[in-house]
Amino acid sequence: MYSKKVMDIFKKPKFSGEIKNADAVGEVGNVKCGDIMRVYLKIKDEKIVDIKYKTYGCMAAIAASEAMSKLAKGKTIEEALRISSQDIVKELGDLPPIKIHCSVLGMDALKKAIANYEKKKK
Ligand code: FES
Repeated sequence: MYSKKVMDIFKKPKFSGEIKNADAVGEVGNVKCGDIMRVYLKIKDEKIVDIKYKTYGCMAAIAASEAMSKLAKGKTIEEALRISSQDIVKELGDLPPIKIHCSVLGMDALKKAIANYEKKKK
């Protein structure tokens, strides 16, 4: 069902975990399945210098969290906001059609963390 790339990413996550004293945290739940993802950001000069996540979800959601983290790290806030679920699926190579909604979880959590960061700044 899953591609080799998705399985490999799932088996060796690089961004899984938590950042103590994160500059921003965003948490979202997937309305379709109830899975949850929390993303932690370390931001310096409006750039995402570190990112970690905790995902309580399926293999696709965890692989998508990894892909989102890889795409977001090193990006400015503005660039990170432009990451789409299509970018995440492209980064993964492929996802079964019934798992496409799982890729949205990472993107939504990232956007929520950035929104919380902007709120905190004001
Ligand atoms: S089934 Fe819940 S995020 Fe994939």
